[in-house]
Amino acid sequence: MAALERTQQNHVVTHPCVLADIVKQVLEELAPLAQHKNSDLGIDNLDETVLISAPVYLLHELVLNLVENAIQHMTKSGVVTISILREKNNCIFRVVDNGPGIPESERKNVLQRFYRLDASQSTSSGLGLSIANEIALSINAQLVLTTPLSGQGLQVDMRFISTIFTRPL
Ligand SMILES: Nc1ncnc2c1ncn2[C@@H]1O[C@H](COP(=O)(O)OP(=O)(O)OP(=O)(O)O)[C@@H](O)[C@H]1O
Ligand SMILES: [Mg+2]
Repeated sequence: MAALERTQQNHVVTHPCVLADIVKQVLEELAPLAQHKNSDLGIDNLDETVLISAPVYLLHELVLNLVENAIQHMTKSGVVTISILREKNNCIFRVVDNGPGIPESERKNVLQRFYRLDASQSTSSGLGLSIANEIALSINAQLVLTTPLSGQGLQVDMRFISTIFTRPL
């Protein structure tokens, strides 16, 4: 909850952060969990030129919650693919998994605090996506849940609206 509370304070100082560095750090942190779940955690494309003006601890929390979900909610061994994509002046941080996904009718609900599809899972508290969504709102980003092109699993897009690029397109 600490990160969530901090987003609600108005005196957050922003520094441009290299998003790819944060993502690589999170992938290292989550490698043991992926191994434990017998799942593949991989990178599709990490645009290194993307800088985001936001506190690093919030970006870390955001990326961690989304990637952790993709691994943790996998019911059998699966594949999680991460990318940072450039789209005109915006950038998208994307996590795609081939797990059970979230039905369309539940995609709004899971953004609520303590909401879980499977309340019998004692290892999770239902907070990660609500924190991610609150962080997104506080740093001018949008969280969008969709079905991947493959038709199976979940695609989570975090679209950062004001992005700085260290190199022009
Ligand atoms: N990638 C995913 N695939 C399938 N279901 C997911 C995925 N991400 C989230 N969910 C579903 O949405 C619910 C809410 O996710 P959220 O991250 O808010 O909480 P949590 O993962 O249950 O707990 P916490 O993040 O607090 O440890 C999860 O309990 C799970 O049912
Ligand atoms: Mg979670």
